[in-house]
Amino acid sequence: MRLFLGSDFHVDYRQNLDWLRALSRADFTDDVLIVAGDLSDELDLVKTCFDELVPRYRKLLFLPGNHDLWTARSGKGPSFDKFETLKTLCQGYGIETSPMAIGKTLIVPLLAWYDYSFGEPGPTIKRGWMDFYKCNWEGLNPAEVAERFDAMNVIPDTSGFDTVYSVSHFVPRLDLMPARYPEKHKALFPVLGTDRLERRIRELGSSKHFYGHSHLNRNKMLDGVTYINNAFGYPSETEISAKTILQVADL
Ligand SMILES: [Fe+2]
Ligand SMILES: [Fe+2]
Repeated sequence: MRLFLGSDFHVDYRQNLDWLRALSRADFTDDVLIVAGDLSDELDLVKTCFDELVPRYRKLLFLPGNHDLWTARSGKGPSFDKFETLKTLCQGYGIETSPMAIGKTLIVPLLAWYDYSFGEPGPTIKRGWMDFYKCNWEGLNPAEVAERFDAMNVIPDTSGFDTVYSVSHFVPRLDLMPARYPEKHKALFPVLGTDRLERRIRELGSSKHFYGHSHLNRNKMLDGVTYINNAFGYPSETEISAKTILQVADL
């Protein structure tokens, strides 16, 4: 059994959905796929992804990204309600959203939100970052949203497991981003992730951490943990994304 990683399929783009639909129906039936968020803000498209992926894999693990929690198209209902809707939807499909044991390996999803621990946003982000318009956190600021999600994390007893992996949508540490990076992209750093994730990863004793959101594919070891990003990303992002699912472990 193999473990595959994908995130940020953003199937609102027709070519991304076409790619997903063209995935082999025979090659992965004994494998596990982690989907680390950002399928679509549209619930029907999330369902389409699940309809496509569930029959192809032995097991799926999903955790939502920021785009999945947008509610503007459905009348601006609370994003925490959308989160619960997605969780219920996953239950219906038999998709895992909680820590998942496979033999002696434990895979732990870590919920999060950015809390500006990577820096304070500048005027461009304050004005233009779509989450601020598309999510409805009922008056909570990002740090409070981050705290709410972190409090939902189930940190399981890892004794009895040989290997622990963890997964988040958001970036767990800022030094995963290149130091030499265009200034206009650096403006996004405050909304990329949170230091809370890194603390959870260390608490778990995770040896590999999978994440998405930055759309910048990475495979980097830092302080003994291997961090892997295999975001699919937007159609234009051909140079920072491999545009395929990636095998990240044998199980
Ligand atoms: Fe994304
Ligand atoms: Fe994202």
